[in-house]
Amino acid sequence: MENFEGYKLDFEQKGDTRGHLVVVEGMKDIPFDIKRIFYIYGSSPTVIRGQHANRKTEFVLINVSGQSKVRVKDGKGNETVFVLNRPHTGIYLPKMVWKDMYDFSVDSVLLCLASEHYDAAEYIRDYQEFVKIVAQQQEI
Ligand code: TYD
Repeated sequence: MENFEGYKLDFEQKGDTRGHLVVVEGMKDIPFDIKRIFYIYGSSPTVIRGQHANRKTEFVLINVSGQSKVRVKDGKGNETVFVLNRPHTGIYLPKMVWKDMYDFSVDSVLLCLASEHYDAAEYIRDYQEFVKIVAQQQEI
């Protein structure tokens, strides 16, 4: 997936005169069962979060309020930036991609759905180590 095709997700808005409603169901709207939910808010626009890759966990990120940007790198020299600014769109991040979240608006609430429970040991927080592991995996 060098061009990061398939990362962008559009969810149906089930709105009516009372307002909008978006549903995200595991194995239906996103390609995994949701084991963990967390959300990030109150990050200043100068902050860069993430800065890691995950050996096992897949994520879906949705800015349910406000805006942020996510830079994704595959460790093979390809990267792209997604702008998350609608509560009915998101991005799917498979395992083993490097991600930086930044440019948070003051009202940003970034909802993160994860395929695994939290395990600090499966986080790769050193970019050079990540690149090395990706290269090793390509040799197999
Ligand atoms: P961190 O991974 O640095 O957040 P982000 O990638 O969103 O910038 O996590 C911040 C802190 O929260 C860190 O001490 C680990 C803890 N944490 C958990 O305990 N469980 C979780 O599911 C997550 C995402 C983080």
